Amino acid sequence: MEQIPDGARIVHTDYDTVYLRDHEPEAPDMRRLYENAKRDQWNVSVDIDWKQPVDMEEGFVADGLIDIHGTKFWDKMNKKEKGEMNRLFSAWRLSQLFHGEHGAVLVCGQLANVLPTADAKYFMATQVMDEARHTEFFQRYLGERVGKVYEQASAGKELFDYILSDPRWYIKTIGLQLVGETFAVALFKMLSETAKDELLRYGCKMILRDEARHMGFGMLSLPEQVKEMDAQERQEMEEFTIYFLRNTLTGGFPKEAYLDMGFNKAEIKEIRELRKEKAQSADFAMFRSLFKKEMHTTLVNNLHKCGVLSETMKASLEQDLRVNVSEVLAAD
Ligand SMILES: [Fe+2]
Ligand SMILES: [Fe+2]
Repeated sequence: MEQIPDGARIVHTDYDTVYLRDHEPEAPDMRRLYENAKRDQWNVSVDIDWKQPVDMEEGFVADGLIDIHGTKFWDKMNKKEKGEMNRLFSAWRLSQLFHGEHGAVLVCGQLANVLPTADAKYFMATQVMDEARHTEFFQRYLGERVGKVYEQASAGKELFDYILSDPRWYIKTIGLQLVGETFAVALFKMLSETAKDELLRYGCKMILRDEARHMGFGMLSLPEQVKEMDAQERQEMEEFTIYFLRNTLTGGFPKEAYLDMGFNKAEIKEIRELRKEKAQSADFAMFRSLFKKEMHTTLVNNLHKCGVLSETMKASLEQDLRVNVSEVLAAD
């Protein structure tokens, strides 16, 4: 075997590939999604104006998103330092999306093998392409504009390693299309509305068009499968979903970005604490409400549509993750 490239990791996986004989369409809704995917392809190297200038002193994402914004740490910085802090923070945040998009390419490639119908396999082939395009966008964005890429954080690694190595298509789909993409869509929406760099806002808008289809795949494929689960499978699925939702929602402190900015360990510890307070502040309210509302609404509605939202799930979401399930369901 060829040498594994530096920084790459190997995830062992063992699944059965379904090689079909019959390809007659069976699920018109899934075929429609596939047709839409073919119609709505776009090209990162043509449809994005990469020559558009960026103001390095301003940075990339909105300053209000940075944990230390509005604290003494932020107030002490001059304009140039604030720009650099924004650059490092953006690099860390967008790197997580970049690694996640690459993970999505890998999971979807597997799904094209494991899924049992032609309708689903054809659609999944388009999602592989979509996710490659998203990875390409972030690779270029980080390389050409931000100038820095961070490692994947442990929460993302753990989720992707789990769903890549589990042989069951529905675990891959719940992990990717239900947990991962619901989170990513809320983040893309927020960035598309608030990022300082116009190119980033535009790129996120383009990506969102694809992501809506990907969530659509989960909605079309999961309900029937979930209905057929026995009690043990159901319990396992619920535990898996809650565990990774918690990881995704609470993980993600950009420690490396603060280290690179020159903060010491004690200061970073303080920043972590301030982060909790900041989450309550009015300054953060816009981002918080944009993200939270989007994430919670989509999450609850999607879980509900797929039949995953049992009474136990509702209770865990409300108690552990502070998602207001009944409010969302009542508004629907
Ligand atoms: Fe994606
Ligand atoms: Fe996606």
